[in-house]
Amino acid sequence: MILKGKKVVIMGVRNKWSIAWGAAQSAYEQGAEVICTCSADSEEKVKDLLKEMPGTSVYVCNNVSLDEDIDNCLNEIKKEHGKIDGILHAIAHANTEDLRNDFILTSRDGYAHAQDVSAYSLVAIVRMAREKEMLNEGASIIAYTYFGSEKVVEGYNVMGVAKAALEASIRYLSKDLGKDGYRINGISAGPIKTLSAKGIKDFGSILDIVEERAPLHRNVTIKQVGDSTAFLFSDMSSAITGEIIHVDNGFSVVGV
Ligand SMILES: NC(=O)c1ccc[n+]([C@@H]2O[C@H](COP(=O)([O-])OP(=O)(O)OC[C@H]3O[C@@H](n4cnc5c(N)ncnc54)[C@H](O)[C@@H]3O)[C@@H](O)[C@H]2O)c1
Repeated sequence: MILKGKKVVIMGVRNKWSIAWGAAQSAYEQGAEVICTCSADSEEKVKDLLKEMPGTSVYVCNNVSLDEDIDNCLNEIKKEHGKIDGILHAIAHANTEDLRNDFILTSRDGYAHAQDVSAYSLVAIVRMAREKEMLNEGASIIAYTYFGSEKVVEGYNVMGVAKAALEASIRYLSKDLGKDGYRINGISAGPIKTLSAKGIKDFGSILDIVEERAPLHRNVTIKQVGDSTAFLFSDMSSAITGEIIHVDNGFSVVGV
């Protein structure tokens, strides 16, 4: 029970395949009070899922491209729950055509959209949570990223560039948040079949390649990523900040 007495906000639960759902389950198992956020179109589905975790609540944060949506959502959470001990950012989006065409064809709008939703939103959420003084001492922020930020992954395109910005933002935010004793880290998860992943061309072959080449010869589960998330939320990781931890069965360390 490494999260007993902690309140954590899990942003980006869409359905039972969402990696954020694995994080919600792990945090709950470890004794945390879990507060989820989702887009308006997933609210009913998420409410249904949460029936298996009594005491868990859900709030709509419909569009993280709008400061107003983030602001309203955080205000509601603060009003109902007071200060929190952690936030998970599990949110990303790119236009389908930018994941289907060659990267060189990415439009200015498509590039800006992927950056805004998938990277800048982390900065906005963390800043607003700090301004609202809703973070408890020792609070821990986590964001999900992917190996396509480091190396070229066929079809990941503009999302790889957005994840590179997200990872750099985590490092810069660690410096600012450290002044208040808060931590922030990224988890670079191995590929997992989720609704978002379906947008990536030939995603099935990425899973096959991981199984073949990763040192542990298997793909990761949302439970495994969730458990690592619980560790980063917990005081067991109190000296880790500004870090990107790979939870990928070792795939990222393999060269030839
Ligand atoms: N699936 C993978 O292989 C994989 C691997 C590594 C990292 N990730 C990352 O994990 C995170 C969660 O993705 P997932 O794969 O579980 O897919 P998912 O589709 O279940 O979750 C994506 C979430 O982003 C939310 N979202 C998208 N645009 C939004 C917006 N404008 N405003 C508010 N919310 C918005 C969706 O509502 C959804 O809840 C993402 O950051 C993704 O890049 C995924």
